Amino acid sequence: MPIRPAMAGDLPGLVEVSLASFEPITWQQEVDRRFGPLNGHDWRERWRRRVEKAFAEQTILVLEEEGRILGYGCGTVDATIGLGHIDILAVDPAAQGKGYGLLLLRAMEEHFLGRGASHVTLESLTDNETANALYRREGYQDLARHINWFKKIERR
Ligand SMILES: CC(C)(COP(=O)(O)OP(=O)(O)OC[C@H]1O[C@@H](n2cnc3c(N)ncnc32)[C@H](O)[C@@H]1OP(=O)(O)O)[C@@H](O)C(=O)NCCC(=O)NCCS
Repeated sequence: MPIRPAMAGDLPGLVEVSLASFEPITWQQEVDRRFGPLNGHDWRERWRRRVEKAFAEQTILVLEEEGRILGYGCGTVDATIGLGHIDILAVDPAAQGKGYGLLLLRAMEEHFLGRGASHVTLESLTDNETANALYRREGYQDLARHINWFKKIERR
C-alpha cells in the first residue's frame, strides 16, 4: 500500500478521514455537550480547522487506494533535540484493523529518522484502547497522563 506526502487537493479527504475516525473518541464532543459550540463552531468545524492548520504547517503522510485517502499521519520534528512529534494518526473506520495504522506509524518514524530524530512522542486518550494497543506493541512507553481542563470565562 503506497504512502506518499500530502499534496494540494488532499485537504478535503484528510478532513473526511479525520472526522470519521475521531468521531467515536474525540473529547471535543464533550465540549459541545457541556458548553455548546464555541462561537457557533461545533467539534466537526473545530477539527476541520485543526486539520487545515496541520496541512499548512506539518508533514503529512497519506495512505491512498485508488485515489481515495484511507488514512494519514502528520507531525513535526525538532532536529535540534532529535525529537519527532506525531500530532494526528487516523485511518478511515472502514479500513481499520488491516494494519494501515501500523504502516502509517512506521512511515512517520522513518520520516523522523530521515530528519535527524532519535525519539518520537505522541499523545492519546487513556480510553483509546485501539491506539494504545498499537503504540504499546510498537514499543512506546507510557510516560505521563494529562487532564484537559476546560472553563467558560466571563468578566468578573
Ligand atoms: C488508531 C488507528 C490509527 C489504528 O489504525 P488501524 O489501521 O485500525 O490499526 P492496525 O490495523 O494497524 O492495527 C495495529 C494494532 O492496533 C491494535 N488494534 C487495531 N484494532 C484494534 C481493536 N479493534 N481493538 C484493539 N486493538 C486494536 C492492535 O494491536 C493491532 O495490531 P494487530 O492487528 O497485530 O493485533 C485507528 O484505529 C484510528 O484511526 N482510530 C481513530 C483515531 C485515533 O484514535 N487516532 C490515534 C489518536 S492518538
